[in-house]
Amino acid sequence: MDIIYQNLMSEAKEVSKNAYCPYSNFPVGACVLYESNKTYRGCNVENVSFGLTLCAERNAISTAISLGEKTKIKAIAIYSPKQSYCLPCGACRQWISEFCSNEEETKIILEDKNKKLVVLSQKEVFPFGFKFND
Ligand code: THU
Repeated sequence: MDIIYQNLMSEAKEVSKNAYCPYSNFPVGACVLYESNKTYRGCNVENVSFGLTLCAERNAISTAISLGEKTKIKAIAIYSPKQSYCLPCGACRQWISEFCSNEEETKIILEDKNKKLVVLSQKEVFPFGFKFND
């Protein structure tokens, strides 16, 4: 599993280079792995109307859906060259939750300041998310 997570993190690093972030100068890249074993990448895309900014994670998930992905999220790696341990924002945690089959099994992959991978579960980072009919 570690090699899979390393590859996801490498992809997140690579796509963070495409970030459009002239306002924050805070690039972010995300790479999401589905049960289909396909991966999709996204970077943050900012806007002069700051609130319209799209985060890397939601960009990656939107890309997956647009390309017809129907399975659930197994893992997502998130990276910023500006900050180690770059956790997803609340909106992105809610988005990840939407496409999880099991929040304990879906993993959030980060990199710490020593460049070591940190593996958290979606349940740990988003324990009381909003759901219908629960
Ligand atoms: N950002 C992300 O791409 N993902 C997150 O989960 C948190 C924040 C972006 C949005 C903005 O372009 C920059 O990071 C600074 O907030």
